[in-house]
Amino acid sequence: MFQLINLPYAPDVLEPAISAHTLEFHHGKHLRAYVDNLNKLLPGSEYESLPLEDIVRKAPAGPVFNNAGQILNHNMYFQQFSHKPQTAPSGRLAAQIEKQWSSLDAFKAEFVAKGVGLFGSGWVWLSAAEDGSLVITQEPGAGNPVTKGLKPLLTFDVWEHAYYLDFQNRRADQLNALWGIVDWKVVEERYR
Ligand SMILES: [Fe+2]
Repeated sequence: MFQLINLPYAPDVLEPAISAHTLEFHHGKHLRAYVDNLNKLLPGSEYESLPLEDIVRKAPAGPVFNNAGQILNHNMYFQQFSHKPQTAPSGRLAAQIEKQWSSLDAFKAEFVAKGVGLFGSGWVWLSAAEDGSLVITQEPGAGNPVTKGLKPLLTFDVWEHAYYLDFQNRRADQLNALWGIVDWKVVEERYR
């Protein structure tokens, strides 16, 4: 049985980037539904005792993949934010971003452009390859870069349910606002 994660912050502290109202629906309704759905699908299946990441790697396109992927994606998404974030990467991650994009701002611009350019619902991801190089990918639906052998580090949710209550159709405004609450300490820990 998978459990709905608890948010590591009070529901109103991420405002105005993410309102308490949005969190109430996004975490309390949408993510809860993915958890409930997966828990109904797993009993008696070959995925029953696997960790979440392994289910996402192994399940073919369909309900098990979609619900497991959405749980993994949302867990990583919600846990990367803080109202008192480390506002920029440091150390090895900062050096790698500098090497590949020349500046943090150039990286952020490409990340947001790929999020805005993803047609329909999905996720934009920063991941690490085995050699430590970084890659930005667009993943439609419940996609997660673990299915490509990458290590996911940072993600922005571009499903409308993530931002419609606060930003209506202004996806770019939502994505740019998220930079103010990304805790790069969490992203650096994932990069280790
Ligand atoms: Fe979402």
